[in-house]
Amino acid sequence: MQPHIPFTFTLFGATGDLSMRKILPALFVAHREGKLHQDGRIICVAKQDFSQEDYLAWVSKSAAPYVKGSFAGVDNALWLSFLARLTYLPLDLLDSAGYLSLAKTLAAGKAVSVFYLATSPALFEPICANLAASKIDLSQARVVLEKPLGHDLMSSRAINDAVARVFAEEQIYRIDHYLGKEAVQNLLALRFANSLFEPLWRRESVAHVQLTIAEQLGVEGRGDFYDSTGAMRDMVQNHLLQLLCMVAMEPPTSMDADAVRDEKLRVLRALKPFSAEDMELKAVRGQYVSGAVEGQSVAGYQQEPGVATQSQTETFVALHAEINNWRWAGVPFFLRTGKRLAQRTAEIIITFRPIPHAILPMPGGQPGTSSNRLVIRLQPDESIQLHCLAKQPGDGMTVQPVALDLAFDQAFKQRRADAYERLLLDAIRGNLSLFVRRDEQEAAWRWVEPLLRHWETSASAPKPYMAGSWGPTSSFAMMERASAQWPEDR
Ligand code: BG6
Repeated sequence: MQPHIPFTFTLFGATGDLSMRKILPALFVAHREGKLHQDGRIICVAKQDFSQEDYLAWVSKSAAPYVKGSFAGVDNALWLSFLARLTYLPLDLLDSAGYLSLAKTLAAGKAVSVFYLATSPALFEPICANLAASKIDLSQARVVLEKPLGHDLMSSRAINDAVARVFAEEQIYRIDHYLGKEAVQNLLALRFANSLFEPLWRRESVAHVQLTIAEQLGVEGRGDFYDSTGAMRDMVQNHLLQLLCMVAMEPPTSMDADAVRDEKLRVLRALKPFSAEDMELKAVRGQYVSGAVEGQSVAGYQQEPGVATQSQTETFVALHAEINNWRWAGVPFFLRTGKRLAQRTAEIIITFRPIPHAILPMPGGQPGTSSNRLVIRLQPDESIQLHCLAKQPGDGMTVQPVALDLAFDQAFKQRRADAYERLLLDAIRGNLSLFVRRDEQEAAWRWVEPLLRHWETSASAPKPYMAGSWGPTSSFAMMERASAQWPEDR
């Protein structure tokens, strides 16, 4: 990994939502923090015929408000010095002739080239083919691909094949921004920098694992896209399965990209396929109807702009997964995600087995209930809590739940990088550890696809749930069948 190098970052789709909300704000923060080499240029490519001034004015209006923290506190001179890195290049991405002007712009320096494809995946093939035909030297280049990478295994293979005709696998950076979150890095530190947890991190000690990514937001003006995608493709196939890999993988031999990715791949390949019976009992899909989130009434999914009135697209998924290997056989991994839920939260809860025999009166009088949980919270704040029982002060021997609490913002005062900032810098510096390899991505599709097919042909619709709730009641019933509970039910 090279720490600080000259680069040319070509952003395809530079006028799109993702560029304005995530990519340009993250690059600005990296610039502000002195993490970008002074010879780092950002070429912004899109179809619209903007002048350089008009584009920069638009970036100031559309991207600056997404800079984390208050933009009002951002030094105007600093912002202008960031804008000085940007060059706008209008280009019809399907027109190969237009790429000659990009080739000319890139030829000017000897910097590392990063091509970020923040466009529809339908454009990945023509962009790569046109780059190859334009005589741009791609031998040292990197290409960053945004999700969704396909709709199923076949379409993801077609995209990967098209990109592979131009770039070698070690030049391809498939982004999953959940892997760039600070708390996910901390999960690795917790597991692999401490000796305490490893002996407990297995079926003999763990009763079950829960992974939740809950959102309060709805589809945010992306109804068209979301209605042909759904929660399984938008969140489970990528973010939730990547988190599951981080929890369940064996210790890699090093933090080398392929060592980590080999271990994640093993987990994905060991996921137990859903049988016909499991599809009914261990998988729940839901769709929100109107309700209230934080006291504000909100429309139901089918009333969102761009969504079909009879849509059968799921906005909620809960799964009871299992991993068929020695470490995890028989341990339920409960995955859950949804839009318009009661709270915005992302967390991983490892519940340990209950004590075998109670000699003290247990809270709630239930000796078989687990009292030990490790809660790794990714959002909205980052923390790790270890829940235990401790003696209540005073007479007698009454035990009560307490939490050993590590809140990162209190323990570490320094600024934590946002996921996109970390991942973009990794792509510029050539560090692939936090990017998804093709075989991982395909293994994830292979596991979710039978369930997607089943839902497509099933006579039953997604279960309705009220916006602002914790999802359909069947998700709680699924947990009950496995003698477990979601935290809200406890
Ligand atoms: C994106 C999904 O990948 O992740 C969105 O496409 C979702 O639908 C988003 O809202 C959630 O990310 P975060 O970081 O806000 O939890």
